[in-house]
Amino acid sequence: MTPENDKVILAIETSCDDTSASICINGKICSNIVADQEVHRKYGGVVPELASRAHKQNIVPVVDLALKTAGVKIQDLTAVSYTQGPGLLGSLMVGSSFARGISLSRNLPLIGVNHIQAHIMAHFIDEPQPEFPFLCLLVSGGHTQIVSMKSHSEMEVIGTTLDDAAGEAFDKTAKIMGLPYPGGPLIDKYAKDGNPLKFKFPDSRVPELNFSFSGLKTAVMYFLQDAEKEDPDFIVKNLNDICASIQHTIVSYLLRKLKLAVEQTGITNVGLAGGVSANSSLRFNLEQIGKEKSWDTFIPDFQYCTDNAAMIAMAAHYLYEGGNFQSLDAVPFPRYDY
Ligand code: KG4
Ligand code: ZN
Repeated sequence: MTPENDKVILAIETSCDDTSASICINGKICSNIVADQEVHRKYGGVVPELASRAHKQNIVPVVDLALKTAGVKIQDLTAVSYTQGPGLLGSLMVGSSFARGISLSRNLPLIGVNHIQAHIMAHFIDEPQPEFPFLCLLVSGGHTQIVSMKSHSEMEVIGTTLDDAAGEAFDKTAKIMGLPYPGGPLIDKYAKDGNPLKFKFPDSRVPELNFSFSGLKTAVMYFLQDAEKEDPDFIVKNLNDICASIQHTIVSYLLRKLKLAVEQTGITNVGLAGGVSANSSLRFNLEQIGKEKSWDTFIPDFQYCTDNAAMIAMAAHYLYEGGNFQSLDAVPFPRYDY
């Protein structure tokens, strides 16, 4: 049982292929349960319809475990929050319907959370926490954005991908090489023993702080097709060097844009968020640049980089403070247009 004036928030995240629930009490994360979905592995990517069905199966046990782990009962909740978007519509609907059901039945305030903002709020779960203004490179299988945060609730997207996300660039090039999904961690692993300068791949010249990754995928595909005509075992023989070269192309492109963002905004509190921030080269090079240029750099704990409800709960904690509640007719938004 929690004292009556505690602020106990249940958060639900179902934007893509992880069903997650978290309990946050007075701004402290007390549980964070994540059920990932194996079902997509054999298809080489997330199948939206299967993701929605798996969320429906997972949501009750995941929420139940989040409550039990935090030692709270549903009667103790002060508010319920959920990912409103962006994400896969069918997946978002499962979380939003479930949250609205709890809000209605328990007469609790409802808080809709922007998933992108929540990824950045992951930096405020543990110490050290960045000061504002804060610049964050959000890189995952679904997002590639540079976001400027002025406060816990004021964000501005100052750069975004025009096509694929950085994680998709890893996963799709890995798939071309015959590696299983998700290929990002495997490219990272093989790249450790490879020469990053062995093969040259182009990066897209899109202006300012925006990104484009679809050209890299095509360039890798044609390069490998030509190389395999000469030597059918080319990929096997050169796997480490190919992976290192692809990783180098993606990471140096991301960091070049991030440097430009720092130059343009003058903000030197700089962080990473999203699943691709697990990439060893990205982490290492951000820290190196940070040292060279005297930036303060921040990378959240890995469990809070990939999709999770703790980051939704953290965002909801600040939305609650600002009285940002929703009515029950709020709908999920699959896209977020800036
Ligand atoms: O944040 P996340 O778990 O889910 C989405 O919101 O998409 O990110 C998953 C993405 C995948 O594309 C995966 O390949 C990539 O993060 N990823 C990595 C690494 N670990 C995960 N990419 C490169 N290197 C890694 N070590
Ligand atoms: Zn995400």
